[in-house]
Amino acid sequence: MRSVILVGSGWHPPLFRAEADSLVGPIETLHPRMVYVTIDDSSMSLLAESSLVESILHSSCRLWSPAGLSSQDLALKIGDWADKFLPNGKFSVRARKLGRGIEGLSRRDVEVESGAIISSLSKTVDLQNPDFEIVVIFAGQEPSPSHPDPYCQNSDLVVWGIRGDSLSGPYKSLSPTERPFFKPVTLDPRLARLMVTLAHSGGHRPTAIVDPFCGTGGIAIEASNIGIEVLASDLDGEMVEGTRKNLEWANGEGQFTVAQQSADSIYTRWGERPGCALVFDPPYGRNAWTSDDSLDILSGALNSASKMLAKSICTMLPASPNSLDGPISSDLEVMGRTWKEVISTFLSNGWSVKSQYPVRVHKSLSRLVLVCHPSD
Ligand SMILES: C[S@@+](CC[C@H](N)C(=O)[O-])C[C@H]1O[C@@H](n2cnc3c(N)ncnc32)[C@H](O)[C@@H]1O
Repeated sequence: MRSVILVGSGWHPPLFRAEADSLVGPIETLHPRMVYVTIDDSSMSLLAESSLVESILHSSCRLWSPAGLSSQDLALKIGDWADKFLPNGKFSVRARKLGRGIEGLSRRDVEVESGAIISSLSKTVDLQNPDFEIVVIFAGQEPSPSHPDPYCQNSDLVVWGIRGDSLSGPYKSLSPTERPFFKPVTLDPRLARLMVTLAHSGGHRPTAIVDPFCGTGGIAIEASNIGIEVLASDLDGEMVEGTRKNLEWANGEGQFTVAQQSADSIYTRWGERPGCALVFDPPYGRNAWTSDDSLDILSGALNSASKMLAKSICTMLPASPNSLDGPISSDLEVMGRTWKEVISTFLSNGWSVKSQYPVRVHKSLSRLVLVCHPSD
């Protein structure tokens, strides 16, 4: 076991932390974009599959409320730490800011001065090709977050550590337009990957990912690419063929089966699948294939998920942009209904909404990413 700091992408800090928690939790939050976790080697490989974890720091050290700390003082502390923890080999020092950074600390001064101190310990600087990259982070307040964040940061913080090589930035994938089958309804790959990882819990992978509204296969591809079995279906035969083509093209390690059926009949087809997770974005408005009400269609999928013995659901529902204004009120409009009605639809089908995260789409639309667990 070892303890590491995870640094998250700035796009949506609450979702970064939720992802870290479901992949390798429990987490200790140090900053909206930094968490501290204790993990083993298998959890490390789960992190490499994350969507929003940008980097990992090993052998880390932290300093709270560094007001009045000069770049020289900090360089001396980093030098003492390097003497004890930096393995032999070539090194570089890279400093960066999170949020507003910290007054009085200059990235360049800290890099140059700590580099000089560590060199005096008979270690060789190599900025191009170091064996060890020391990352120093000046973590200040986040300026006006674009998504509501319940975490309240009371104090600035400096952390430093050795950058792990299992991650080189947040998740990137080919554009979905490169796939053999593309439609505008295709989910952004970063969001699709995130929804798959949010369906993990406490470091455990789902036994299968079930997407009853697979469309072009955006979610199915992400699950298969990280080696999870996929059961995908859609009512529309063109989508079924398209998802199959896309999954063959993606050539992921997870086995897949794609079927044409309505979402309320997935249990009849797939049967009990203890420990699976349902991950989907349901049809709404123009996407609704039948004239049925979107909430009824969702309800059918939730009911089937219970019968299949799924252990979690991650979904994303359209919501009014007021969701971004702060705590979600029971009369917020979600899928054309009130949030209260939507929650009770989940409950009456055996699911409780564990957490909800508003995501900005455009001026007049947001989406709520929901993570749900069985209610009993
Ligand atoms: C929002 S799209 C899913 C997009 C998909 N996540 C992707 O990345 O391409 C919703 C899908 O639900 C399908 N659909 C509509 N009504 C359905 C129903 N009753 N049962 C199953 N699928 C349905 C539509 O054909 C559409 O492909």
